[in-house]
Amino acid sequence: MTQEPSEQPTDQPSEQPVDLGLLPLTSSVAADGRLSVGGVDLVDLAEEYGTPLFVYDEEHLRARCREALSSWGDGVAYATKAFLCKAMARLAHEEGMSLDVSTGGELHVALEAGVPAEKLVFHGNNKSPAELRSALSVGVGRVVVDSFDEIDRIETLLRGGTSSGHRLPVPTVLVRVTPGVEAHTHEFVRTGQEDSKFGFGLASGAAALAVERLRSSGLVNLAGIHAHIGSQVFRVESFAEEVEVLAGFFVPLGLDEMVIGGGLGVAYVAGEAAPTISQWAATVHDAARRSGIPSSVRITAEPGRSIVAGAGLTLYRVGTIKDLPGIRTYVAVDGGMSDNPRPVLYSSGYEAFLPRAVSASRPRAARVVGKHCESGDVLVADARVPRDLAVGDILATPVTGAYGYSMASNYNRVPRPAVVFVADGDARTVVRRESSADLVRLDV
Ligand SMILES: Cc1ncc(COP(=O)(O)O)c(C=O)c1O
Repeated sequence: MTQEPSEQPTDQPSEQPVDLGLLPLTSSVAADGRLSVGGVDLVDLAEEYGTPLFVYDEEHLRARCREALSSWGDGVAYATKAFLCKAMARLAHEEGMSLDVSTGGELHVALEAGVPAEKLVFHGNNKSPAELRSALSVGVGRVVVDSFDEIDRIETLLRGGTSSGHRLPVPTVLVRVTPGVEAHTHEFVRTGQEDSKFGFGLASGAAALAVERLRSSGLVNLAGIHAHIGSQVFRVESFAEEVEVLAGFFVPLGLDEMVIGGGLGVAYVAGEAAPTISQWAATVHDAARRSGIPSSVRITAEPGRSIVAGAGLTLYRVGTIKDLPGIRTYVAVDGGMSDNPRPVLYSSGYEAFLPRAVSASRPRAARVVGKHCESGDVLVADARVPRDLAVGDILATPVTGAYGYSMASNYNRVPRPAVVFVADGDARTVVRRESSADLVRLDV
């Protein structure tokens, strides 16, 4: 689960060129107006690798991981649901982050990437016995326990041991608590309220009961508590409220760890401003001190979107332009809701621009749509584009690094795009483009 349209008032779309602040860190605009990222010209990149194409600025990814580590300290976990492939898992690990995985699939990819199990935090509101067995057998660093049924399953597994008769290692666990804090975000991505499928309610007493059960079983090492109030949250005060509410429950328990989840918002369109990861951490640490949480307690987080969103952009090729006089102009590209479902799911706003003319003003109003058989297949509902935009142009949407590729589908049997990392003048494919053969690979 992920995100939402911004709640911040944004300016009406203007004719201004795209805001360079929305572009990846190493973006540079040449004298002729063409955009390079990581020293690689994006139009050339699209010609070489094809479109649609996800492009990630490796330096930007690394910078955000480093900021997370220096702001939150050891144990801060990258939430892999935002974007996961082996290269991304390796990168976050190389930069010292732990990784949050929320399914057996994410666990598998992280392990395949060579991330040590003790650096993994295993989440999920409905972990299957098989997923739990895998996680416990490899010895993941933390299991975030989400329900009484899960406690039953963990205890059964620990009592039963492995198929070869060995005892499973004693897991270190956190209890996921729903603190009842309003996150001021889209309904689908709010998770901290009592009426939630995630975790144990604080107000109902379920959280206290879960702690009691885990402590008395003697089968697990209970390290602390975990909460997550939502995603695409701009108000850092919401996280301070979360900590204050949690502190009343947490401090008397005398536990060592509190994880406040992910959820920091990012700017998607001009006019939005998001707090930095460092500001987020500072606000939470201040709230922890004010709330009487001992300084020995490890307070950490698991950012996803704020690590990867701005590092990525998507390149499409314009295929059809339809001017409907008095209605609107549709600009159709060669991807759509299959590579970025966020606009359909959350009415999320994006910008569009031409990497061949980054500094061009954008006087034309247009709706950027995909190639799927749905009227709702919209990528940018109210885009502004340069007057000379034409069929064959490479069009880019910035800030697509989070919950784009990871939520991509094969709808209409459209192959999933390739993903490339760019750095120091080089591009490398980290996920290849799906082929026609891939589209029938699972058919029997
Ligand atoms: C438990 C948990 N942690 C972390 C995250 C990452 O959130 P974000 O990508 O908004 O930082 C999520 C997102 O849904 C989550 O559910």
